Amino acid sequence: MTITFLGHSTFHIKLDNGKGLLIDPWVAQNPVCPDELKKNIGTADFPVDYILISHGHFDHIADAVSIAKAHGDAPVITNYEIAHWLGQKGVSTENLKGMNFGGALQFEGFKLSYVKAVHTSGIMEEDGSVTYGGEPGGFVIQETGGTCLYYSGDTALTMDMQLTAELYQPNLAILPIGDLYTMDPRAAAMACKFLACQAVIPCHYGTFPILTGTPEQLKEELAKLGLNTKVIVLQPGDITSYSNSMGER
Ligand code: NI
Ligand code: MN
Repeated sequence: MTITFLGHSTFHIKLDNGKGLLIDPWVAQNPVCPDELKKNIGTADFPVDYILISHGHFDHIADAVSIAKAHGDAPVITNYEIAHWLGQKGVSTENLKGMNFGGALQFEGFKLSYVKAVHTSGIMEEDGSVTYGGEPGGFVIQETGGTCLYYSGDTALTMDMQLTAELYQPNLAILPIGDLYTMDPRAAAMACKFLACQAVIPCHYGTFPILTGTPEQLKEELAKLGLNTKVIVLQPGDITSYSNSMGER
């Protein structure tokens, strides 16, 4: 798979079959997403065939409605409550795939599971009220014959990651390290231990000064645990190809 980092927690994944997944669409207003990339999302290089939403906070959902409407055939996969909310906002209900924990969906070339996160999921409305956004989650993307990617979404460290490791054996994890709202680098290193993943892409840091964790700290914490998990550091706009052989331990 080919992974493009749009900045903060937003990723585009291009599977080996050419299908594109946009995860946690915070694009137009994302202060760290390069303008060039904002323009290119949805073009042939960055197709939007599926839209995945981990939870209801603005930095994960801000452009969900407009992008879902612009890509009318793309399934939008999220939890049950956010799917309902998107329908209320005018997204075609035919495309909404509201999931819950324990379930999976099979698509062309990949299987998608929704797994628990320890976080919150309220959706901030324009009038300042908060709509219940169900339980926050993460995704396991099992590419047929390819990489198994765990995108945790915003989460604290949780023992559930050991279950995720046992059930899915992810090769690669995308984990938040910024602290305050999510894991810090030390907890993220422990998550790598739980997950037994070969490689990790840190995210959800540096966007705002309050998100203080750094990839360097993650590397230090992994070393303290005696882990040789490969840390793939991406700047907003960076594109990387990942295959399972890259993360050999
Ligand atoms: Ni959040
Ligand atoms: Mn967030």
